[in-house]
Amino acid sequence: MNIRKATIDDIDILIKLRIDYLLADNGNLTTDEKNAIRSQLTTYFSKHINHDFIAILAETDNNILSTAFLAISEKPANPAFITGKTGTLLNVLTYPEYRRIGIASRVISKIIDEAKQLGVSSINLSATKEGKPLYEKLGFTESPKYTSMKMQLV
Ligand SMILES: CC(C)(COP(=O)(O)OP(=O)(O)OC[C@H]1O[C@@H](n2cnc3c(N)ncnc32)[C@H](O)[C@@H]1OP(=O)(O)O)[C@@H](O)C(=O)NCCC(=O)NCCS
Repeated sequence: MNIRKATIDDIDILIKLRIDYLLADNGNLTTDEKNAIRSQLTTYFSKHINHDFIAILAETDNNILSTAFLAISEKPANPAFITGKTGTLLNVLTYPEYRRIGIASRVISKIIDEAKQLGVSSINLSATKEGKPLYEKLGFTESPKYTSMKMQLV
């Protein structure tokens, strides 16, 4: 198995991995949703890959086994993100037949190394029930001080 950073040549693979993750997470997408998402992903990956977005792929000669994405944003610094850069970890997926043999742990460790090299101060994520024990094992913690909140606009 090889673990590597995705490049601009991997856009079709990244689109498939995003759709597969969303199907694993939501169970279903309408054709309209799929088309809208595919269209956004093509533009998004072309624009952001290896600038403020990185993806790690675990692969064999024929197959992608696992992946994780990191979207980096820059904002006014504070003591908790002194470089102003934070990463959002998303799309952590290991295909079912390759689970529980440590692949996602290796993929996330690689993305953490890459994030450190890019000066990212901290990484946040929203954990699924399946993902939470994995993240805890790797050292992610729930914030004792802040509750994550959101408002849906569109
Ligand atoms: C969550 C997921 C990415 C884990 O991938 P994986 O390659 O199996 O993870 P690892 O083998 O590296 O797991 C490492 C450790 O995390 C914990 N862990 C992983 N999956 C777990 C599960 N389903 N239940 C409980 N603990 C789990 C265990 O401590 C495990 O170590 P162990 O197998 O020695 O006990 C995979 O189950 C998946 O793709 N799920 C569907 C998508 C998803 O929910 N992604 C997370 C989004 S936040």
